[in-house]
Amino acid sequence: MGVDFDSDLGKLQRLMAESIAGTTRRNAILNEMQIQAGDTIVDIGCGAGHLLTHLAKAVGDSGTIYGLDPSEAQLEQARKRCSEFENIKYIEKNADDSQLETDSCHSVTSTQALEYVPDVEPALDEIARILKPGGAFVNVSILWDHFKFHGAEEQLNGKVHEAFRAHCSHQMLPMELPGKLERRGFESVKDRSLAFVITRRDNNSPARYSEAVMANFALTQGLSLEEVSDWKSQLEKADQQGRFGFTSFPVLTSAYLS
Ligand SMILES: C[S@@+](CC[C@H](N)C(=O)[O-])C[C@H]1O[C@@H](n2cnc3c(N)ncnc32)[C@H](O)[C@@H]1O
Repeated sequence: MGVDFDSDLGKLQRLMAESIAGTTRRNAILNEMQIQAGDTIVDIGCGAGHLLTHLAKAVGDSGTIYGLDPSEAQLEQARKRCSEFENIKYIEKNADDSQLETDSCHSVTSTQALEYVPDVEPALDEIARILKPGGAFVNVSILWDHFKFHGAEEQLNGKVHEAFRAHCSHQMLPMELPGKLERRGFESVKDRSLAFVITRRDNNSPARYSEAVMANFALTQGLSLEEVSDWKSQLEKADQQGRFGFTSFPVLTSAYLS
């Protein structure tokens, strides 16, 4: 069972997207994409549309942005956020079923979404199908084995992290993506680390939202309320004593279709 983005976890995900980690990712993606006025661009798993507004401004009135996401709740948030933009269209579908024309897009981007797609192969086929020759694919996915909290008692900390492994379908997608893209005719595949470390547990930090997501998910995986409360208290204490840490390792993968 993975994360249900229609539920309260969707709300936490949106807070995460608004945090400094979300802003840093969006800047890296926008820097990588060579966007021209008039371009057609798709954001796969667009969530609440934080990137869509930037893309819409970059392509201007003559361009079109598609926000694709299977979650009605996420798309509802995206529609609200992007209500000023007439050049954004929404597709309530899975990544493998965009409904877009073959060779119709200048670029496709995706942020922390493909790791939630159980069978990623048809999704990548679809991305290669809709991209024009020479079109860019820019993906950010997390190396989940390096998504780690430090400061809680080792055994309990390990238990919470172990439970979290079930939250997505692919723990280490960026390691497999280059081969998968090259087999589909992509060239110039490059990886870039967007890793970060946080040593304070203040409100509105990605560490705080990640902690809430992990705690909620651990409860769905059979950990007791007492265990999860203990884990959070231990992290709080570690923060008070100046020995708290959280690391995350997003990777930006970029490639061009030959
Ligand atoms: C962690 S959120 C990321 C949202 C957004 N890209 C961002 O960075 O804020 C993951 C998103 O992937 C979407 N998703 C889940 N399964 C998907 C699928 N099969 N195809 C496309 N998107 C999917 C979820 O609904 C959710 O909105």
